[in-house]
Amino acid sequence: MNRRACLHSLSALGLLSFTRGNISMEGPILKRAIPSSNEKIPVVGLGTWQTFDVGENESDRAPLKEVLKTLIDNGGSVVDSSPMYGNSEKVVGDLSTELNLNQKLFIATKVWTNGEKAGIEQMNNSFALLKRSKIDLMQIHNLVDWKTHIKTLQNWKEQGRIKYIGITHYTEGAYSSIEQILNSTPLDFLQINYSLVSRKAEERLFPLAQERKVAVIINQPFEDGTLFSRVKGKTLPVWAKEFDCKSWGQFFLKFILAQPAVTCVIPGTSKPHHMLDNLGAAYGRLPSPSHLTKMVGQV
Ligand SMILES: NC(=O)c1ccc[n+]([C@@H]2O[C@H](COP(=O)([O-])OP(=O)(O)OC[C@H]3O[C@@H](n4cnc5c(N)ncnc54)[C@H](OP(=O)(O)O)[C@@H]3O)[C@@H](O)[C@H]2O)c1
Repeated sequence: MNRRACLHSLSALGLLSFTRGNISMEGPILKRAIPSSNEKIPVVGLGTWQTFDVGENESDRAPLKEVLKTLIDNGGSVVDSSPMYGNSEKVVGDLSTELNLNQKLFIATKVWTNGEKAGIEQMNNSFALLKRSKIDLMQIHNLVDWKTHIKTLQNWKEQGRIKYIGITHYTEGAYSSIEQILNSTPLDFLQINYSLVSRKAEERLFPLAQERKVAVIINQPFEDGTLFSRVKGKTLPVWAKEFDCKSWGQFFLKFILAQPAVTCVIPGTSKPHHMLDNLGAAYGRLPSPSHLTKMVGQV
C-alpha cells in the first residue's frame, strides 16, 4: 500500500494522529451526526466561492488540487459549491476525478435560479460538472424560488439522486423567512452565516435547527477573510492552548464548533497550508463556555 492509500485508510478509520508544521492532528478527526440520518461528517470542510473559480490553466489549478488532497488526506470530506460560483463546480469535479477522490467527497452544491424547468436544467448540469450520478446535499441557494425547487428536491431525494436537502443564506435579513421554512418544511440541512462577530444565529436559528433535527453548516466563518485583519500583529492568547488551538484560523473555527447545533463549518481557501490549518480545528479539545466569553473580547 502506498503512502496516500495508507493515509486514506487511516483517515477513513478516523485514526490519523500526527503533527504537520505547528498543526497537531491528534486523532480522530471530530465528526458530528446529521440529525435526520445519524450519518457522521467531519466538522471542518471546504467552501469554494471565489477561491475555486479558475479556468483551465494548470498553474491556477495546481494549488487547488493540493487543497482537495489536503482535505482528504487529513480526514475531511465536505466540499460546498454552487452554480453561482463560476467555474467552481467544474474545477471540483475535474480535480477530484484526477486525484481519484471524487467518490470520497461529501459534495454539497446548490440550485440558484427561478422556475422548475430552469432549476432542473441547472441541477442536471451540476451533476455533469461535478462528475457525479448522486449528490450528497442539494441546497436552495439564498432561498431563491424555494417553494418551486423544494418539490423537485423532495422527488429526487425519494429517487435517490440526492441524499439530503437544504437551504442556504448568508444575511440576518433572511432569518425570519428561514424560521418559517424550518417550521413548515422537512429539511436535512440549513447553511447559514455565523462567526465570532456575527452571532445572531445563536438566538433563534440554532435552537430551532436542534428542535427540528436539522444539521447546520456554517458559511463565511472568517467574515470572508476580514477577521484576520482584526487580529493582525496580535499574538494568540496563551490560554488558546487549553483547547488545542495553534492559530487564529483555528481560534475562529473552534469558537464556531463549540456551538452544539453546528454540524460543519466550510471555510473557503485556495491555499493548501490554510486548508491544513483549518482542518486542525477539527482535532483536539474545543473551548469551554468560559473560554468562549474570553474569545469574544479578542476581536
Ligand atoms: N448564501 C450562501 O449559500 C453562501 C454565502 C457565502 C458563502 N457560502 C459558502 O461558504 C464558504 C465560506 O465562506 P467564504 O469563502 O465566503 O468566506 P470565509 O470562509 O469566511 O473566508 C475565506 C477567506 O479566508 C481566507 N482564509 C481561509 N483560511 C485561512 C487561514 N487558515 N488563514 C488565513 N486566511 C484564511 C481565504 O483566503 P486564502 O484563499 O488565501 O486562504 C479567503 O479569502 C464559501 O466559499 C461558500 O462555499 C455560501
